[in-house]
Amino acid sequence: MKLFSKKKKEQTQAMAVPTHIAIIMDGNGRWAKKRGLPRTAGHKVGAEAFRTIANYAKSIGLKYLTVYAFSTENWKRDREEVDAIMDLLETYLRELIRDMDKNRVRFCFFGDLSRLSPELQREAKETAERSAGYDGVQVNFCINYGARDEILRAARAFAAECAAGKAEPGDLTEAGFSNLLYSAGVPDPDLIIRPSGEIRISNFLLWQSAYSEYYFTDTLWPDFGPRQLDEAIAAFNQRNRRFGGV
Ligand code: IPE
Ligand code: IPE
Ligand code: MG
Repeated sequence: MKLFSKKKKEQTQAMAVPTHIAIIMDGNGRWAKKRGLPRTAGHKVGAEAFRTIANYAKSIGLKYLTVYAFSTENWKRDREEVDAIMDLLETYLRELIRDMDKNRVRFCFFGDLSRLSPELQREAKETAERSAGYDGVQVNFCINYGARDEILRAARAFAAECAAGKAEPGDLTEAGFSNLLYSAGVPDPDLIIRPSGEIRISNFLLWQSAYSEYYFTDTLWPDFGPRQLDEAIAAFNQRNRRFGGV
């Protein structure tokens, strides 16, 4: 058994691991429905799937993992479901803070956290601050995140600088604009994975994904594990990225 896992690890390491992988963690509700369970049960197992993938990402040397946990549009859901997701996030962050020093994963949060409960905001802040110096994988956790909202905020921030006389419209560059986004300082994702069978972006990383490779799979997020991540990375390794060149 030990020998097998060692061999497996060597195989993975032989594969080129991209620098930054982003995942739309979708399919929790359908996973639960298939089992006759409430949707919230799917979110619970989905949270476990995230934990496994984050640890695995660290073990294969991934530098950045960005995960979409709750979108700016997800507030449209039943109050009951939204509350259950928020409760799960709180519980999860509390556990994370407890185990933080052991895991050494650096956590950042992308999204407008001001709409979250004060408790959740406090936990997110504490998690980000306490893990800032860790050198494992950097996890960018997207809560109340919407790419259009992110782009609008950046545009407003730059407009405000212009209005204050600190910048001229012509000063804005692509790199400068990138630095006004939640993802400031993070390289663009190389690979974006969407489980659950949906073939759409759902307002995720619109600016950053200009040259990302996409990987879609029918696997529902709660069933997505290290093997599925290996498969996505293997598919990524078959791609020929040209960035507009030849
Ligand atoms: C993803 O799973 C979790 C969130 C969007 C919060 P869904 O809840 O969207 O699951 P499906 O798509 O209904 O199966
Ligand atoms: C995208 O999934 C958002 C997250 C996984 C957090 P959705 O389930 O909200 O997307 P749509 O509604 O299918 O496009
Ligand atoms: Mg969904």
